Amino acid sequence: MRATWLEIDLGRLAANYRRLAGQLGPKTRVIGVVKANAYGHGAVPVAKRLLELGAARLAVATAGEGAELRRAGIEAPIHLLGSLHPDEAEDALKADLVPTLATLEAARALSALRPGATVHVKVDTGMGRVGVPPDDLADFLAEVEAMGIEVEGILTHFAVADEDPALTRAQLARFLAAVRPLKKRYLLHAANSAAVLAGIGTDLDFVRPGIALYGLPPDQSLTSELSPILRWKAKATLVKTLPAGHGVGYGLTWKARGGETLATLPFGYADGFHRALSNRGFVRLGREYLPVVGRVSMDQTTVLLKTPPPPDAVFEVVTADFDPRTSLTGRARALGTINYELATALSPRLPRRYI
Ligand SMILES: Cc1ncc(COP(=O)(O)O)c(C=O)c1O
Repeated sequence: MRATWLEIDLGRLAANYRRLAGQLGPKTRVIGVVKANAYGHGAVPVAKRLLELGAARLAVATAGEGAELRRAGIEAPIHLLGSLHPDEAEDALKADLVPTLATLEAARALSALRPGATVHVKVDTGMGRVGVPPDDLADFLAEVEAMGIEVEGILTHFAVADEDPALTRAQLARFLAAVRPLKKRYLLHAANSAAVLAGIGTDLDFVRPGIALYGLPPDQSLTSELSPILRWKAKATLVKTLPAGHGVGYGLTWKARGGETLATLPFGYADGFHRALSNRGFVRLGREYLPVVGRVSMDQTTVLLKTPPPPDAVFEVVTADFDPRTSLTGRARALGTINYELATALSPRLPRRYI
């Protein structure tokens, strides 16, 4: 056990899941997005809980992530998001994943390995990243189905669901216009968290929420009806005072005036506490905000206290709220990034405790 760890509240995960499920049409089911180690929260325990809560399927970003879930005994369908690269086809099939298909090269690689492989085809309705253009969809489907590939579903992804509902509805309309003329009935899905919360695309066959399951708002606003499910805690490895003029950390960028109480905490940027928080970030102890002093190093961070802490004090590195200084969402804003990036940066080497 390290003296720093993450606590993940699976009860709050359930509350967020129910909040999202309450938005859905009667036949719409959830694909729980657990890529990037469930956005840093730990893929296997989160995936298992989501399935218990009623999620029909899961989604990951790499075949390796899918294989990890299979090794843990998960049997539910697992989607491989993105756009399958031919190099990943074999591993995707080995882990029994449902690849997302958007190129003929990937289709050929799949059919060479396993005729009859099941896929979902991605349409680009405006994101401009991956996907078949809507006008090419019918021809693309005909070509891949002629290779023997089983196209079970068709999806698209929204580019601005968190900021522009009108444009998102236009993307959905483009998607529906592209699939309407098709002769076969495919399973359809489009909505990410922001779209689910906005009620856009919530009556197709599936929705694909990620960030909101973890209680983090997709639009980066500080208030939300969601509950963050993760806390990051730490105990001090050393509490000390330094004489006037003594520097702290690489580069000696902070100097003691003399007599201040400092605590050295056992985590650093390799754990996902960004180096940009050097001389700028905060952790919390009770109601007090303790500023980071000196540079954040790979494995250690130093903070300034007003008074000596009680023995075995537990410092909160990330709070499960929307605090502008210590929550994932607030800190992301302060750093000019998004909560997605801070959550997925939480290193696998941090122990995770589930409550
Ligand atoms: C294709 C696809 N669907 C769904 C999601 C989930 O998005 P969010 O975490 O915003 O709900 C993602 C995440 O990036 C994605 O790439």
